[in-house]
Amino acid sequence: MALKKGVDVKPASGKLGILLPGMGAVATTFIAGVMSIRKGLGKPIGSLTQLGHIRLGKRTDGNSPAIKDYVSLAKLDDIVFGGWDIFPENAYEAAVKAGVLESKDLEPIKAELSAVKPMSAVFEQAYVKKLNGPNVKKGTSKMDLAQQLMEDIKQFKTKNGCDRLVAVWCGSTEVYRKPTDVHSSLDKFEAGLKASHDDIAPSQIYAYACLKMGVPYANGAPNLSLDTPALLELARKQSMPITGKDFKTGQTLMKTILAPGFKARMLGLEGWYSTNILGNRDGEVLDDPESFKSKEVSKLGVIDSILQPEKYPDLYGNISHVVRINYYPPRGDAKEGWDNIDIRGWLNYPMQIKVNFLCRDSILAAPIVLDLALFMDFAARAGMSGIQEWLSFYWKSPMTPDGLYAEHDLFIQLMKLKNTLRYTKGDDLITHLGAEYYD
Ligand SMILES: NC(=O)c1ccc[n+]([C@@H]2O[C@H](COP(=O)([O-])OP(=O)(O)OC[C@H]3O[C@@H](n4cnc5c(N)ncnc54)[C@H](O)[C@@H]3O)[C@@H](O)[C@H]2O)c1
Repeated sequence: MALKKGVDVKPASGKLGILLPGMGAVATTFIAGVMSIRKGLGKPIGSLTQLGHIRLGKRTDGNSPAIKDYVSLAKLDDIVFGGWDIFPENAYEAAVKAGVLESKDLEPIKAELSAVKPMSAVFEQAYVKKLNGPNVKKGTSKMDLAQQLMEDIKQFKTKNGCDRLVAVWCGSTEVYRKPTDVHSSLDKFEAGLKASHDDIAPSQIYAYACLKMGVPYANGAPNLSLDTPALLELARKQSMPITGKDFKTGQTLMKTILAPGFKARMLGLEGWYSTNILGNRDGEVLDDPESFKSKEVSKLGVIDSILQPEKYPDLYGNISHVVRINYYPPRGDAKEGWDNIDIRGWLNYPMQIKVNFLCRDSILAAPIVLDLALFMDFAARAGMSGIQEWLSFYWKSPMTPDGLYAEHDLFIQLMKLKNTLRYTKGDDLITHLGAEYYD
């Protein structure tokens, strides 16, 4: 939907419920983090909504308010958490199992965290081959399961006295699937739900249920989920914002920082080899070739779309781009990524860059979940619906309207995000034109 300049944004009054399908490492690190920050026990590092500023007007104006003071965002104190998982453990137990946060950080919030219990999940093992859990709904059809999710959403909202809800998928990566005929329109999708069509994934049942209930939806995993004509149609019909796919955290974040720099300087790229070891449950799921395929497709798209080989054949016409993920249990959530980058300079002389990123996956993902939830709630209150391209900043594989290529360059993405916020407030966009050229 076309966005008006200077929109009336409904106030962020009352409570915001954040619903998380999948309450594993990322989701529990996010929930525990918000609870710690609310108690003043930690800082929201990595979160643009909590720490970022936005410049308004000329550089000489000296006017750069905090983003959270500039646009109307829900306060951390007003957030309540809910979600679904195939395992019945509460968020405290799941966080201990995930092993991301240490007990010194979990113990002070144990009571609050333990009170967040997952609702029973919609799950089909054909879509996540490596997992099997007991906390799963039974239903007569996929439509019946969708209705059970809608009932969960309704009850959660009433029980917790929420004013608004927003959902962020933090569930496992499902196997790679292309959209089929059942995804081609909402009518066909609904008929498919009733007939329990094999091609409808659990993540799509959540997306359907949330959108039907007027809940904006973000997809943190690389699998298709809501990126289908049928669910786009539903989002438009319900005037709901949607966004995805695949949180941009470790290695891909680095790629979208470095590749724009090479291109800016017209340096050539011959090859980019990326490998990772990780030992969390996500790593175990990605050890299945079909789930890895979803991730691989999501990770591989980035470089080509930033470097535009069709426009720069001499520099980027023949890149070898390889991505590997190896499941290695001793590392847990503390992933290690290696990148070997073969670049070319003046007269085609070769050079190499090595990046060794010892990162923590969920520590990087948690602030993204927070920002997405707050910005999606903002978008809904601002009347923004359909694909929220201004949130591409957060995604490895940003959803785009038909016919448009995805923007992957982190710096263009950030400018787009901030300019969208300025636009909603009716302020001038920042062009970075030199002061001497202004009238
Ligand atoms: N951590 C990162 O940096 C990062 C980056 C990008 C994307 N992701 C994606 O985020 C997702 C979560 O990652 P994680 O590290 O928390 O994984 P995780 O394995 O710790 O958590 C995923 C949880 O989802 C649950 N689950 C699976 N299918 C479900 C279903 N149908 N309904 C409800 N629950 C379901 C699992 O039981 C598990 O508890 C994964 O898809 C991952 O690929 C993570």
